[in-house]
Amino acid sequence: MIKVKDNIYWIGIRDWATDTFHGKEMSTPLGTSYNSYIIKDKKTALIDVSKTNMREEYLRILKDEVGYENIDMVIVNHSEPDHGGLLLDVMERIGLQKPVYCTEMGKKFISKYFGDKFNFQVIKTGDEVSLGDTTLSFVEMRMIHWPDSMMTYAKESAVLFSNDAFGQHVTNGGIFDDEIDECRLFYEALKYYTNILTPFNKLISKKLDEIAGMNLELSLIAPSHGVIWKKNIGKILELYKKWSGYVNNENVLIVYDTMYGASLDAAKAIGTGLEQAGVPYRIYNAATYDRSDLITELAISKGIVMGCPTLNNGVLSGIAVFLEEIRSMKFKGKYGAAFGTYGWSGEACKIISEALKNAGLEVPLEPVSIFLSLSDEDRKKCVTMGKEFADYIKQGQV
Ligand code: FEO
Repeated sequence: MIKVKDNIYWIGIRDWATDTFHGKEMSTPLGTSYNSYIIKDKKTALIDVSKTNMREEYLRILKDEVGYENIDMVIVNHSEPDHGGLLLDVMERIGLQKPVYCTEMGKKFISKYFGDKFNFQVIKTGDEVSLGDTTLSFVEMRMIHWPDSMMTYAKESAVLFSNDAFGQHVTNGGIFDDEIDECRLFYEALKYYTNILTPFNKLISKKLDEIAGMNLELSLIAPSHGVIWKKNIGKILELYKKWSGYVNNENVLIVYDTMYGASLDAAKAIGTGLEQAGVPYRIYNAATYDRSDLITELAISKGIVMGCPTLNNGVLSGIAVFLEEIRSMKFKGKYGAAFGTYGWSGEACKIISEALKNAGLEVPLEPVSIFLSLSDEDRKKCVTMGKEFADYIKQGQV
């Protein structure tokens, strides 16, 4: 148990060993933490629990450092198994009759996971619970990022328990943001935001305005993953507002896959065109580069050019997977273009071009299609495509 502030303690679990989240969907090279908090007052509240595979370690901390008998209530900000997975284990030990505070959707989800066996106290935005000298108030966060999500605010200490919002998949020997290298921290915050929250940008932007309108004093923002924001509260709030408004920096990703190198040759020639026109770019192999890092870079870039050879009338699998990733993000304000190499049928570039359009990107150019390997003429076509795409990046407003 580590003291956070006043009567608030961190009883999180550091998951040093994990390197992915949401199954294998997102890479987490710095591990993660499942943060859980205790507020001690006349009554003691437990805010969020932990993940099922952390059962032994979490229950040991709860038993030895807090004492099951001392916990009077549980606040479930979010029932996803990385935070709510051990709820039944905890309730069976502290007493099934103890109140469980959650949203209406939280009650529904928890009941499906564990059966309708808890003393649910359903809350709405603005409801309050007194622990004695500590007042907890609640803010519903529907679809940020699950229907059941909410935040809990400890008024007197000005601590916002924000659950997944403002999280980072980082674990560290220190619980605050000033105890970790800031470059790593802010990259991981952006990667987390992109991979978990981007599809909900519109709702997040509105919710940030709503929270700003509440004029809450904030001494700490304590999320359910990663470190607690203390030094950089203003900065992370500002970044969330910026990220939720879509960021389209004048920069292009060229994402390719290849069998014998022709598509990489084409990618490099397109890059030459972009560079000649003054637009920065980077080239990535979709099959080998980390997908969650790649989507993070796309989230803050204005354009993407994608290409690969045609294989069995389709695209290579790395490209197919990344196209699905782009679709799921619901990006706005980005441009796309496609290229492809082929031996006979040549569908890949058209498939990519259509998929980018269907993902909501503006695709202003016809795809460039190359038979087998690059001739001088093909190379010129690719350079020209890079230059023309650069014009859209520099001038266009999707
Ligand atoms: Fe960290 Fe949505 O759970």
